[in-house]
Order: sequence, then C-alpha cells, then structure tokens
Amino acid sequence: MALLEILKYPDPRLSKVARPVSNVTDATVQLISDMLETMYAAPGVGLAATQVGVLQRIVVLDVDHENPRTNVYKLVNPFITHSEGQLVWEEGCLSVVDFTAEVRRAEHVQVVALDEHGKERTIEAEGLLAVALQHEIDHLDGKLFIDRISRLKRDLYTRRRRKMLRTGIEPSESTQVMI
Ligand code: NI
Repeated sequence: MALLEILKYPDPRLSKVARPVSNVTDATVQLISDMLETMYAAPGVGLAATQVGVLQRIVVLDVDHENPRTNVYKLVNPFITHSEGQLVWEEGCLSVVDFTAEVRRAEHVQVVALDEHGKERTIEAEGLLAVALQHEIDHLDGKLFIDRISRLKRDLYTRRRRKMLRTGIEPSESTQVMI
C-alpha cells in the first residue's frame, strides 16, 4: 500500500486525456488499491488516476459515508451510456484547493465499466454518486469542475490560486465533500 501524491490545479497533467486500459493486470489492481487508500486519507469520495499522475482510465469512488468501504466502486474504462435530467450540485475537488462551486450535471446516469477482475458491469446512479461519476470521468478527459463554471468565477479562482502559490499560504483543510 502506498499513498500517492494528488496533483493540484494548475498542474498541467490534470488537463491530459487518459488512455483506456487494455488489460487489467496485477499492476492495475495495485494502482486501484493505492488510489483507494489515497482517497480515504485525503479524505475524499472519489479519485481518478489522472489526479495521481497516471494517464489511465481508472476511477475509484465511495460515497457511502455511513458504511465506509462497503459500497466501493473500482472502475476501469468507465463511460456514460445514458444520462437523464438535470441537477445542480455544489462541487469540490481534491485537485482544486480551497474552492467549491455549483455545477450543472445530469441527475441520473448509467455507466458501463470493467471492475478490477476485468468483468464488465453497469451502474445506475443518481444524486451524489451520479455527480461523482460524471466528475471523475471528466478528470479522465482532462476536465476539472472549474471548466464547467462561468469564466468570471474561474478567472477569480485562478487569480486567487496563483496568489496562494506565490505567497506559499495554503488555506486550512476544508470540511466540504471532495470528489
Ligand atoms: Ni475531482
């Protein structure tokens, strides 16, 4: 088990598009396990491989606060096969320091992915799980939630983030759910 470093905006590696995994191997299983530990330690409810500098289409999620480590999703090559409705959710992200914003997403999604055994599975999701799935799949496509807000809000954040990096003053930990 190893804790991995989570890349933070504006790291350019967060904007890269991840490649599909052609074979689920022992190395894939190990990466998934390390990603899960990294996600729990952060703490967060979702993590994409892109966020730890690995450009493979792998995502882990656990949005069940009441029963941690019970409903864990380990998804390889996930893609959205159906989406319906709309909702607005206040999102935060482990790669976006000290910022949350309302983002419009589909309310229901159906996602098809391989599990850690290379078996195909279908997930029907709504609410936070649906939001988290869309957010993580965005990461695999090199997109952050701040790419889905108004340019004005994004520019304000970008300026504030640059100042943080310039002054070396990082904000204290947030209590927001991070995906
Ligand atoms: Ni995120």
